[in-house]
Amino acid sequence: MGIDEKRTRFPCLATVRYMVTAVVAVLTVVVAVKVITVDLRPEDVELSILQGHIEASTLWRQRETEISPPRLQVSRRHRRPCDDDDYEIQPGLGVNDAGSSDDSCAESRLPSTVMTYEAAASVDLGVTLSAYNPSGRVDIKCTGITLRVVDMPDLARNTTGTMEIVRFPLPRGFLVKRQSSHTVRRWMRVTDARVLSYLASTYAGRTSFTATVQVNATIASVTVVKRTNPKNVSHWCSVVTVGLDEPSTTADAVHCKAREEPPYLFGSVLLAPAPALPAT
Ligand SMILES: *[C@@H]1O[C@H](CO)[C@@H](O)[C@H](O)[C@H]1NC(C)=O
Ligand SMILES: *[C@@H]1O[C@H](CO)[C@@H](O)[C@H](O)[C@H]1NC(C)=O
Ligand SMILES: *[C@@H]1O[C@H](CO)[C@@H](O)[C@H](O)[C@H]1NC(C)=O
Repeated sequence: MGIDEKRTRFPCLATVRYMVTAVVAVLTVVVAVKVITVDLRPEDVELSILQGHIEASTLWRQRETEISPPRLQVSRRHRRPCDDDDYEIQPGLGVNDAGSSDDSCAESRLPSTVMTYEAAASVDLGVTLSAYNPSGRVDIKCTGITLRVVDMPDLARNTTGTMEIVRFPLPRGFLVKRQSSHTVRRWMRVTDARVLSYLASTYAGRTSFTATVQVNATIASVTVVKRTNPKNVSHWCSVVTVGLDEPSTTADAVHCKAREEPPYLFGSVLLAPAPALPAT
C-alpha cells in the first residue's frame, strides 16, 4: 500500500539526511573550535606612532632674571659691536654654551638679564596611535589600551636617567577591521610636579627630546562564529620625538615592536653595572 511504501522509503532517506546534517554539524563544530582556540599573537595587530612625533604644549617655563650689579657694570664697560640681543646665559649649561662659536665675544659682554627655566604648570602631550590589522580573515578588537611615554636618555645601554613622563589609558577601545587601520589622536596632561621639574631642568631651553612609548592593550579577534580569548599584549615604540613643533606631515611613522621588555634589558641595572645589549 501507498502508506507502507512511504514508511519504508522515507525512513531510509531521513536517515541519510540526518547523517549528512550530523556530519556537517560536526564539521562546523570542529571549524568553530579551531577558530576559537587559535590565540592571537601580539604582532597580529601592528601599532605605530604617526609621524614618530608627540606634540608638546611646552616643556618648561622661561623667566628673565636680573643679574647682579657688578657683573652689569663689567658688561657695560666691555660692550662691543658683536653684542646681540639674543645672547643669553643658561644656568647649568655654562655661560659660553649659547655663544660657544664666538667665545671672545661672549666673555667680553654680559647681558643684564639671564633666562632661567622652571617647571611649567602643566604639559600637554598630543600623540597619534595607529593600529593596523594585516589579517584578511578576522577583525581585531582592542580594549584596555594604555600608553606610557618614557624618557630613556641612555636607551641603548641602561636605565640611567629613565623617567616616566606620563601614563594614560584611552577611554575607549576600538575595532580594527581586517586589512584596515584605526587611528586615534589623544592629548594627555602631565601634572606630576616631579616630572615637570625634570623636564624643565633636563631640557631647559630645548624644544624637543626623544622618548620611547609603551602601549599595552588587550586584543581579541572577532569572527562570525565567536571571539578568541582576550590576550594582553605590550608594544614598544622607539624612538619618538617629543617636541614643541607641529609634527611634519611627511615624517615616517615609528612602528612599535611587540615585546614585553623595552629595547634593552629593563631592571637589571639595579644590580649589574652595565647590562649587555640583548640580541634583538
Ligand atoms: C590583562 O590586562 C587587564 C588590564 O588591562 C587586567 O585586568 C588583566 O588582569 C590582564 N590579564 C592578564 C592575563 O594578565
Ligand atoms: C604594561 O604591562 C606591563 C606588564 O603588566 C607593565 O609593567 C607596564 O607598566 C604596562 N604599561 C602600560 C603602559 O600600561
Ligand atoms: C649607564 O651608562 C652610562 C653611559 O654609558 C654610564 O655612565 C653609567 O654609569 C651607566 N649606569 C649604570 C647603572 O650602569
